[in-house]
Amino acid sequence: MSAALKTAGGTGPRHFLELMDLEPAALRRMLELGRQAKRGELQGQPLAGKTVALIFELPSTRTRVSFEVGIRQLGGTPLVLTAKEIQLNRGESIKDTARVLSRYVDAIMLRTADVAQIRELAEYATIPVINGLTNISHPCQLMADVMTFEEHRGPIAGQVVAWTGDGNNVAQSFIQAAARFGFTLRLATPPELQPPAELLAWARREGARVELTHDPAEAVRGARAVVTDCWISMSDEKTAAAQNRHNMLMPYQLNAALMKHAAPDAIVMHCLPAHRGEEITDEVMDGPQSVVFDEAENRLHAQKGILLWAFGAG
Ligand code: CP
Ligand code: NVA
Repeated sequence: MSAALKTAGGTGPRHFLELMDLEPAALRRMLELGRQAKRGELQGQPLAGKTVALIFELPSTRTRVSFEVGIRQLGGTPLVLTAKEIQLNRGESIKDTARVLSRYVDAIMLRTADVAQIRELAEYATIPVINGLTNISHPCQLMADVMTFEEHRGPIAGQVVAWTGDGNNVAQSFIQAAARFGFTLRLATPPELQPPAELLAWARREGARVELTHDPAEAVRGARAVVTDCWISMSDEKTAAAQNRHNMLMPYQLNAALMKHAAPDAIVMHCLPAHRGEEITDEVMDGPQSVVFDEAENRLHAQKGILLWAFGAG
């Protein structure tokens, strides 16, 4: 790719909102572009002249830094905005924010605690909108996770991936990824924290292999990757009672005893930030099966693929 990319035309902007909205071929194309970026094979400055607004309603280390650095490396200009410093925080509507920003910048990434906000932003923006995490999804993370799995263990289609813990936003994007990338997903969650029934019904309709249990050892048995995440997500902080969650989720901790049930060459994944000693032990997180820092690095590469696709590549 040499010339600066144009925003995809014809059928409207290329939004990256949920994996379920996108064809496997498009997702594969993004991953391939991300791999090319990682190998240093992209020519020139494909995002030259493009400005991407990065709006954060919630904190971030990886998403913020990987998008900002990635956009600069592609020749574009990132514009980081925290929701509290823009008029959105004083009651300006998402609809009007979408229309105004579309006149200034070339794409918007949003991290929000309310998925309705990103849907409305995408409806009214005339430029691509990228989901940087919502209360129910984290698709950028999954693109990095699939990239990481495939780097370590080859094609993910047909493999068994196990999730242990809260059926949260990342777990829900894993369900969508199982459908789009063709892997088997076994989720072990407490009954109170299962992923939503409508999403599981969608996965069944898509023919995805998604299995639910309340027994982490059963979920992990023979799995090639074991994944967990924090016990209280950012969008649950105001409502979840910490002690309750802790008691409910302690049996789902990713520790050495649980890893004994996995395939001997299973990798350990976590989107980070980790709460060491809660959902994952130091021993597992720092152990030889852990690929969590490769996963964090791959946010940078995978998101370059997403950006290039959103601006019309492939
Ligand atoms: N994994 C992830 O999205 O991390 P941040 O919250 O630091 O962006
Ligand atoms: N489930 C976590 C993911 C953080 C990247 C949260 O939403 O806080």
